[in-house]
Amino acid sequence: MRADRVYREIPVIFLTADDDRDTEVRGFQAGALDFITKPFVADIMLQRVNRILQLDRLQKNLQQEVEKQTKVAEERRRKVERLSVQVMSALAATIDAKDAYTNGHSARVAEYAKKIAMRIGKSEQEQEDIYYVGLLHDIGKIGIPGEIINKASRLNDEEYTIIKEHPVIGSNILKNISEMQDIGVGARWHHERYDGKGYPDRIGGEDIPEVARIIGVADAYDAMTSKRSYRDIMPQAAVRAEIERGKGTQFDPAVADVLLAMIDEDKEYRMHEM
Ligand SMILES: [Fe+2]
Repeated sequence: MRADRVYREIPVIFLTADDDRDTEVRGFQAGALDFITKPFVADIMLQRVNRILQLDRLQKNLQQEVEKQTKVAEERRRKVERLSVQVMSALAATIDAKDAYTNGHSARVAEYAKKIAMRIGKSEQEQEDIYYVGLLHDIGKIGIPGEIINKASRLNDEEYTIIKEHPVIGSNILKNISEMQDIGVGARWHHERYDGKGYPDRIGGEDIPEVARIIGVADAYDAMTSKRSYRDIMPQAAVRAEIERGKGTQFDPAVADVLLAMIDEDKEYRMHEM
């Protein structure tokens, strides 16, 4: 009966004249809910059958209820997850909307950073995390005046100083997202340099969190492979040379090598702003 889907759910009570312990143990092991030995008292037996049926029903209801609640909880979890993704994407779009020349920049940097992370051998979860860290790396630009961000000509020193505040502004904006501890790591340190001459904290080498080193490389790549007010997309060979040149000074050499391999595989130069 246990093997058959149709009969599986029927509660089984053994009724037997055989009253040795072994038989009883075997009966329970086979899935019996009760064991009644002959001779039996009819009233008592009826009560036991009723009790078993009641118990069986309760158990099944409980099981169904648990399944239902699990489903509800799972659906709610998925919804929250989707919502976070949408909110983060909306935030990224806000940054890009402010900057006329970096349309889609955040999403591309996120995508490149994720690809680099994959090649370095990061887990899928880590790749996902780095995607969102990348997506929000420039969020601090929200706090920079639009005239400076969108200025077509060269920035003067004062404007450049203001622009350089965006990593700190960004990490302050993100510091309250406690559910993703490291979400602000990219925002704060994506302009640090491997030789320690970057900003805002002038940290170098391995002191820069790896995620930020990856995003730094991805960011520089996207800047060169996107249109600017003063130039078109840079030729692939020139981009490659710049990345090569920055190895160990601007860029973490290991991360730069991964990007160089990606560039070399990209024979038709597809990896750029569309
Ligand atoms: Fe930036």
